Amino acid sequence: MVEIIPSILSADFARLAEEAARVEAGGARMLHIDVMDGHFVPNLTLGAPVVESLRKATRLTLDVHLMITDPDRFAPAFIQAGADQISVHQEVCPHLHRTLEMIKGFGVKAGVVLNPATPLSTLEEVLSLADFVLIMSVNPGFGGQKLIPRSLEKVRRLALRRQELGLDFAIEIDGGVTPENLPEVVRAGCDWIVTGSSVFHTPDPGAVVAAMRQAALEATSIPI
Ligand code: DX5
Ligand code: ZN
Repeated sequence: MVEIIPSILSADFARLAEEAARVEAGGARMLHIDVMDGHFVPNLTLGAPVVESLRKATRLTLDVHLMITDPDRFAPAFIQAGADQISVHQEVCPHLHRTLEMIKGFGVKAGVVLNPATPLSTLEEVLSLADFVLIMSVNPGFGGQKLIPRSLEKVRRLALRRQELGLDFAIEIDGGVTPENLPEVVRAGCDWIVTGSSVFHTPDPGAVVAAMRQAALEATSIPI
C-alpha cells in the first residue's frame, strides 16, 4: 500500500495537533516532519521539543527528515522525543554506515536522503542497511516548489536496483507532489509519498489526503 505522508512544513504551526488530527481523519498513517538548521539548507524550522509535543498529540508514525549538518549529534534527541523513523542526508554523513547503524541501534527505522544532484551510486554500499531511501524531488529548504522530473527517473532506477539486490527498503519521495502528478509518481515506484502544500494549503486537508490515497490506489492498479 502506497502511503501519502503529509508534511507539517506547510501546516499551521500554532495548531499542529489539530492539523495532525485532520490528516489522520483522511486516512494518513504517517506524518513528515522537516527539521532544518539554516546551514545545510537556507531555512530554519523546529527542534526536538516540537516532536515531543506532537508525540503526545498523535498516534501517527512520525517521519523525521533531518536537513541539518550534524545528524549524528542531534538524531538521538529526536528519537528520544518520539520519532519513529529518522532520515539523514548522504551529503552530510562522512560515515553514513555508522550513522545508519547508530539510528537503528535505538530501535527506530533509519533512512538516507539524496538531494537532486547526488547520484544513486553513492548509496550502493549501504542499501542493505537502510530501512528506506528518500529521493528529494526538489532542492530541500522550502515547501511549494515544482517537482524536478528527472527525480522520477532516479526512483525508477532505484526500484530496479532494489529488485536486482533482492532488498525491501521503502522508496520515499519528497517535494512538489500534487494531485496532478501523483499517478506518475506512484507508477515510478514510490512507496511513501510526502506532500506538504498540496494538502495543508487547502481548506480541507483530510479530504485531500483521502482523495490522494484513493488516486494512488487506482494508479497502482492500472497496468502501464
Ligand atoms: C522540502 C521539504 C519537504 C516539503 C515538501 O525541503 O523536505 O518535506 O515540506 O513540501 P511540498 O509538498 O509543498 O513540496
Ligand atoms: Zn522533507
